[in-house]
Amino acid sequence: MPTREPMFEFHASAIAGTEAVLCEELREIGLSSVRLNRGGIPFRGTWRDGWRACLQSRIAQRIHVLMGRFPAATVDSLYAGARAIDWSAHLTPAQTFSVNAVCRGSAIQHEGFAALKVKDAIADSFRDREGRRPDVGDDPDVRVFVYIANDKAALYLDLCGESLHKRGYRREAGEAPLRETLAAAILRMSGWDRTTRLIDPMCGSGTIAIEAALWAANVAPGLGRARFGFERWASFGQEQAQAMRDLRGELRAARKGEAPRIVAADADPAMLEMARGNARAAGVKLAFREQSIVELQADEGAALVVTNPPYGVRLEADPLFVRNVAAAFCRLHGWRVGLLAGTPAYALNMPPRPRERVPLMNGDLPCEFLLYEIP
Ligand SMILES: C[S@@+](CC[C@H](N)C(=O)[O-])C[C@H]1O[C@@H](n2cnc3c(N)ncnc32)[C@H](O)[C@@H]1O
Repeated sequence: MPTREPMFEFHASAIAGTEAVLCEELREIGLSSVRLNRGGIPFRGTWRDGWRACLQSRIAQRIHVLMGRFPAATVDSLYAGARAIDWSAHLTPAQTFSVNAVCRGSAIQHEGFAALKVKDAIADSFRDREGRRPDVGDDPDVRVFVYIANDKAALYLDLCGESLHKRGYRREAGEAPLRETLAAAILRMSGWDRTTRLIDPMCGSGTIAIEAALWAANVAPGLGRARFGFERWASFGQEQAQAMRDLRGELRAARKGEAPRIVAADADPAMLEMARGNARAAGVKLAFREQSIVELQADEGAALVVTNPPYGVRLEADPLFVRNVAAAFCRLHGWRVGLLAGTPAYALNMPPRPRERVPLMNGDLPCEFLLYEIP
């Protein structure tokens, strides 16, 4: 009988509002026990499944693995619970670590203090056993994440290192670049079949169009990253490094040759130049067009628009601009239009009712994704 590999409980964190599409994506990747949950999606799997989630998820912000869960109504119980966990498989006294905490609806409210207690508990557990302790560092080898909700603590290790939206291709960005993970989420929300012609007529640094091209070509988004956080853990030895090389090789081989036509347009030539550079760095081919949205014509057959039109103080002062943009979308008869709107002004100026409306957070800015079928 083959020995069964150990299974772990993972958690994929999501930008608020993207949980449902992340859940769908993780199931499609083939992960198991994937459950829809607010704030993030839990799943179960082997180490390889955790690595695959880091490499293949376009929508997750981070992937965490659970180290322990215990009641923590007081800082003393938090300290004791954290100290009882065996951290030595992944962390050694020669390495550095960091602790971040989030507290929700619990007696422990001070996140900085909770993190400090867990940091002390981990350091003390090493000092007791080995007489030496790992230091905390700005670029830590091991990142610990503490989540305390309703007086219960869950302690995780962060597999990613840097957040997964940092794919590595965006060298330059405009004033309001979209996170790559949010761009991937709205593409999935738009229901794109990855073959229909797709246009971002206000492409800025090109994030939506580049994410679309990577998805259509079945390129795992994590292949652009030099390494993930878990590749610096003490538990990541030569055998694991070889398994990870094999996995990267498998995913590279899964790239598809043909791609649908994806157009990235913007009225500002400087933005287009930036988008060109980013697409080159991502290794994808897009069609670029210097064009104002008001000139967009529905004369090239069925297409899908996914875009993130301008928002902000200057725009609020210019209702005519929003009316013109909305009128341009409404001329695209038979097209589907998905807008990530940072202001309610767009929805107010679009006569058709949206087929879908999803509230989302774009950084600190509440916004919504609106999906229209233009009659
Ligand atoms: C919010 S930004 C898009 C950001 C983009 N999603 C990214 O990730 O970088 C809006 C873009 O709309 C462009 N824009 C403004 N007015 C336009 C117009 N009339 N036609 C086409 N593009 C326009 C701006 O140049 C800007 O790049």
